[in-house]
Amino acid sequence: MDTLELIDRSRLPKHIAIIMDGNGRWAKERGEDRVYGHYEGVISVREIVNTCGELGIAYLTLYAFSAENWNRPKGEVDALMELLVNTLRKEADELNRKNVRMHVIGDFGSLPEICRQELNEAINMTACNTGLNLVLALSYSARQEITDACKKIAVKVANGELKPGELNEQVFHQHLYTADYPDPELMIRTSGEYRISNYLLYQLAYAELYFTQVNWPDFRKEHLYEALLNYQQRERRFGKTSEQIQTTSTQHV
Ligand code: IPE
Ligand code: IPE
Ligand code: MG
Repeated sequence: MDTLELIDRSRLPKHIAIIMDGNGRWAKERGEDRVYGHYEGVISVREIVNTCGELGIAYLTLYAFSAENWNRPKGEVDALMELLVNTLRKEADELNRKNVRMHVIGDFGSLPEICRQELNEAINMTACNTGLNLVLALSYSARQEITDACKKIAVKVANGELKPGELNEQVFHQHLYTADYPDPELMIRTSGEYRISNYLLYQLAYAELYFTQVNWPDFRKEHLYEALLNYQQRERRFGKTSEQIQTTSTQHV
C-alpha cells in the first residue's frame, strides 16, 4: 500500500508551513554552484504546490527568502531574486489555471522593484481563485513581524482607536502579516536542520514540527505524504491530558 492510501483525507492540516532548506548543500554535493540548488528547488516547489492543491490543503506557506538571507553574498542574493522573477513569469498562468491564490508575507518594500511588479501581477491575477492559498514568505522575519504588529497597535492606542484593555490574542493576531490565515498545524523543515530560523514564531505556537534529512531539491510528493502520515499519528494535546483528548475524540465519533 503506498503512503497516500494510508493518509486520512478527513484529517489533513488546513495550513502547512515549510522551511525549504538544503539547496546549497545539495548543489555542493554534486560539485555545482549553490545557485544550481536553488534552480532545482523550484521543481520541488512546483510539485509540492500541485500536491497540496490536489489534496485540498487550504494554505501552504513557503519560506523562500528570510530577512537574514540579505546577508548572503551579493551574487547569490541577485540570483535568487532573478530566479523569483523568472519563475513567476513562467508559472503564474499555470498557478492561476490551477485555481491557486498567491499571497506574500514579509518586508515587501525591501524587494527589488521588478520582483514587486511580478509578485503584484501574480497576486492580482489570482485574487479571485478559491483553491490553494500559496503564501510566499519573502524578506521575512518573525521578530520583525511581531515588532511591526506592536508598532501598529501602539499607534492605534496612541490615537485612541484601541484601548489597552481591548488588546487580546485575537486582536494581536489581526495585526500580524498572517491576519487572514489560520495558524499552521504542521511545519516541515528539510535538510536535517532542527531550528525555526525566525519563521512564524507566533503562529507556530502549537504546530507539529516535522524534520527530514532530505534536502529541498530532492523533496517530492512522497516525502510530503510521509510528513502528513507522521502528523496524523501524533496526538495533539494542546495542554490537556491524553485521556481527555481520547474522550473528546470518542465523543465526536
Ligand atoms: C534554502 O537553501 C534556500 C534559501 C535559504 C534561499 P540554502 O541556500 O539555505 O541551502 P543550505 O542550507 O546552505 O544547504
Ligand atoms: C531559512 O533557511 C530561510 C529559508 C529557507 C528561506 P536558512 O538556511 O537561511 O537558515 P539558517 O541560516 O540555516 O538558520
Ligand atoms: Mg540553509
